[in-house]
Amino acid sequence: MKIIDGKAISASVRKELTAKAAEFENKYGRKVGLAVVKVGANPASEVYVRNKIRACEEVGVKSFSYNFPEDAEESALLELIDELNGSENVDGILVQLPLPSGLNEKKILARIAPEKDADGFHVINAGGIMLGLPCTKPCTPAGIIELIKSTGETISGKNAVVIGRSNIVGKPCAMLLLAENATVTVCHSKTADLASHTLNADILVAAVGIKQFVKGEMIKPGAIVIDVGMNRSEGKLYGDVDFESASERAAYITPVPGGVGPMTVTMLLKNTVESAFRCKEN
Ligand code: GUN
Repeated sequence: MKIIDGKAISASVRKELTAKAAEFENKYGRKVGLAVVKVGANPASEVYVRNKIRACEEVGVKSFSYNFPEDAEESALLELIDELNGSENVDGILVQLPLPSGLNEKKILARIAPEKDADGFHVINAGGIMLGLPCTKPCTPAGIIELIKSTGETISGKNAVVIGRSNIVGKPCAMLLLAENATVTVCHSKTADLASHTLNADILVAAVGIKQFVKGEMIKPGAIVIDVGMNRSEGKLYGDVDFESASERAAYITPVPGGVGPMTVTMLLKNTVESAFRCKEN
């Protein structure tokens, strides 16, 4: 079994992005800019946002932080997004999810200019993935494809099983695997006899949100296993895959932490740098 080292793969992509961000600054006289909008004080979001801002500094992208209270008015958020959409210094905008329950997430995400949608959550970008058009891809699925490709194994013709059907991970991940010519099955909480599907998976993506949910006995020997889980328990981070038993069957596996997480943040930086160049060059 080989570990897919998301941290190391991230570091090499970030090195390229650092050079690209410097090139942008030389050419256009300002840094690539990412606006990071956080509402309320969800503890997981605090950690994610901090990581994203730190990663911006690492590659020379300027981050602009906006923090709203839990009871923020929707109109205030929409007003800020309008301002960021028009800002010369902002190339990417991200609104950290989940939003407090009183806010209309769909409406807020739809307000972000699609060309500045660093997360790829806007309906235009979601539609682009569906139709196979050039578009900004959601960071976690884009990172997953990079991690799978890093193994050197071909994706085309393989059976890929995605457990989870969220708009952020499961659905777009299935679309990207399909675009790579995998035969894709999407499983979820209502799937009957989950193991009958996972045992057929040459590539297994676990995005369930349940600590150590996927056991070794559910994995096809020789599979590539991608663990999207970020389950915090007693101060420790656990994946959706039971790493120990899975390691005995999988050929490749991503660890938690140090697998999908760092790649997600790296893809956010990539989307932002690409959007900066696209905006200037088109
Ligand atoms: N919440 C969980 N994952 C993500 C993500 O990739 N982007 C944003 N904005 N919020 C999230």
